[in-house]
Amino acid sequence: MIGTALFSRLTERPTLTTTYPEPAISVAHNVYQPQEDSRLLVDAMHHSALIPGRRVLDLCTGSGFVAIAAAEMGCASVTAFDICPHAVRCCGDNAALAGAAVDVREGSWLDAVDLAPFDVVVANPPYVPTPPGDDSGSIGAGPSVAWNAGSDGRLILDPLCEAAPKLLCDGGSLLLVHSAIAGVQQSLDRLKWAGMEGEVIASKWIPFGPVMSARAKWLEDTGRIPRGRREEELVVIRAEKP
Ligand SMILES: C[S@@+](CC[C@H](N)C(=O)[O-])C[C@H]1O[C@@H](n2cnc3c(N)ncnc32)[C@H](O)[C@@H]1O
Repeated sequence: MIGTALFSRLTERPTLTTTYPEPAISVAHNVYQPQEDSRLLVDAMHHSALIPGRRVLDLCTGSGFVAIAAAEMGCASVTAFDICPHAVRCCGDNAALAGAAVDVREGSWLDAVDLAPFDVVVANPPYVPTPPGDDSGSIGAGPSVAWNAGSDGRLILDPLCEAAPKLLCDGGSLLLVHSAIAGVQQSLDRLKWAGMEGEVIASKWIPFGPVMSARAKWLEDTGRIPRGRREEELVVIRAEKP
């Protein structure tokens, strides 16, 4: 088991007992506003003590919230990728404002393989199950590229879990946050298939936000959630490359 002493065991999955002070950032309207998933990932980074002195890769960086937190925690270096040019600009601006040395790059997360290996990979990728046809216009909650992830929510999760060993040095670690609705066991299975042992090190139940609320009926009708459920569990998975 990894670092279990750091977490309380009052619920079925581990929860974190303290929160890390948030980096001060500003977020453009067309960039993902850091939310509970962003905060849970940063808290897990802090509790795991994996970041200080390490070469960190932040995939799907958005505003740079997670990358800047890594810099503030004392990482040796932090490289950040996002496919959206608005996010890249926003991350660069926030890093400059915070005085954080973030090497931010525009591109798919997969492009980071060219810069590997890293000691630690952190990621808050899109993971929200998405109905056929684009309903994002009717939700109007921000950039849909930040959450839409195919019908099962695993459009990025699956390839990311499979590619994790290519991004990491031997002994390196992955911290990955997503909703349990996208399948915790699937992530653990994919990681295992790729040769990495993973486990949930943090979790938190939160009420549905605007995107999940707008999709709740479709999620119910397709059996992805029980009828009446309007909350989801976020999890942080830690996986190790041997
Ligand atoms: C849920 S947001 C997370 C943002 C930030 N890391 C945070 O925690 O607040 C996901 C981000 O992934 C980016 N993204 C989506 N598809 C991507 C891809 N294929 N490669 C890199 N980034 C991607 C989006 O632009 C968005 O900024």
